[in-house]
Amino acid sequence: MSVLHINIDKIRTVAIENVIEETPSVKTFVFYDKLSSNAKPGQFLMVWIPRAEELPMSVMISNKRDHAAVTVRKHGFGSTSLYEKIQNNVIGIRGPYGNFFRVSKDLKNPLLVGGGTGLVPLMRLATIFNKLQGKCTIIMGAKTKDEILFKDLANEILSKVSNNLIVTTEDGSYGIKGVVTDALKSIIKKEKFDMIYTCGPELMMKNIYDLSVIHSIPIQASLERYMKCGIGICASCCINDKLVCKDGTVFNENHLSTMLEFGKIYRDKSGRKSYY
Ligand SMILES: Cc1cc2nc3c(=O)[nH]c(=O)nc-3n(C[C@H](O)[C@H](O)[C@H](O)COP(=O)(O)OP(=O)(O)OC[C@H]3O[C@@H](n4cnc5c(N)ncnc54)[C@H](O)[C@@H]3O)c2cc1C
Ligand code: FES
Repeated sequence: MSVLHINIDKIRTVAIENVIEETPSVKTFVFYDKLSSNAKPGQFLMVWIPRAEELPMSVMISNKRDHAAVTVRKHGFGSTSLYEKIQNNVIGIRGPYGNFFRVSKDLKNPLLVGGGTGLVPLMRLATIFNKLQGKCTIIMGAKTKDEILFKDLANEILSKVSNNLIVTTEDGSYGIKGVVTDALKSIIKKEKFDMIYTCGPELMMKNIYDLSVIHSIPIQASLERYMKCGIGICASCCINDKLVCKDGTVFNENHLSTMLEFGKIYRDKSGRKSYY
């Protein structure tokens, strides 16, 4: 049966073939799934952790043919249940869902800015820039040196293009001391970027968006909201009149300028509004 006939909404059970310990609190789980291996940068899976949770997770790249992965940070009950999985354990996946980062061949100097596991979709995006002419800059943020994600991988991915990898750590244990926006504020004054791509905590992305407006740089941001169905039915992921799972997760400056809840209001499990 052709892969095109598989219904992406049907849960596919996949066995974890490989577990990569990325940092003391982050692991990547590699599995065979053709559909996910062809995901576009920014798309996500709904990952079912049997007897625990179903969580949205960005689709991580894998260097194995027809394989993909998810990279999870140990946090609350759901993510910890996934984090504790071992080789040969089975999880369920639906998707890939959502829109994706758009890349124009004319881009000469894109800037990718990610914090924590927000770097997952940016790694898939970077593989595209490695095939285009031009330069690619990545600013990656972590709390400490031990928690830096994908630095070596990013170097490998961007091996064929001119690149600049900037790392920030909040405690100053590696790279620039501070957060990604500190590095962004400084580089944006010196260099002309033609697009900013970002994924990470919403307040970080709001600050990046504000800077992109001041410097008139187009932006695409992949947002994270509480998700239950992942396919536009339950509205738990709404932000103003947009559903992040279906209309996004990637929004550009035109969308973001009308999404007044962006960086200000989020919704909890019950849908109740809270302020950042
Ligand atoms: C599109 C998308 C892609 C994501 N990609 C990744 C990824 O690649 N790696 C990664 O580690 N995490 C990713 N997340 C976050 C992940 O889905 C969980 O939110 C996070 O792992 C915490 O879950 P928890 O059950 O451990 O936390 P809990 O302790 O139960 O909850 C803590 C907080 O996590 C958030 N959360 C919990 N459940 C959900 C849910 N179903 N949907 C959205 N937010 C939720 C809520 O803000 C909640 O307040 C992504 C989220 C989205 C929306
Ligand atoms: S998660 Fe249900 S509509 Fe988006």
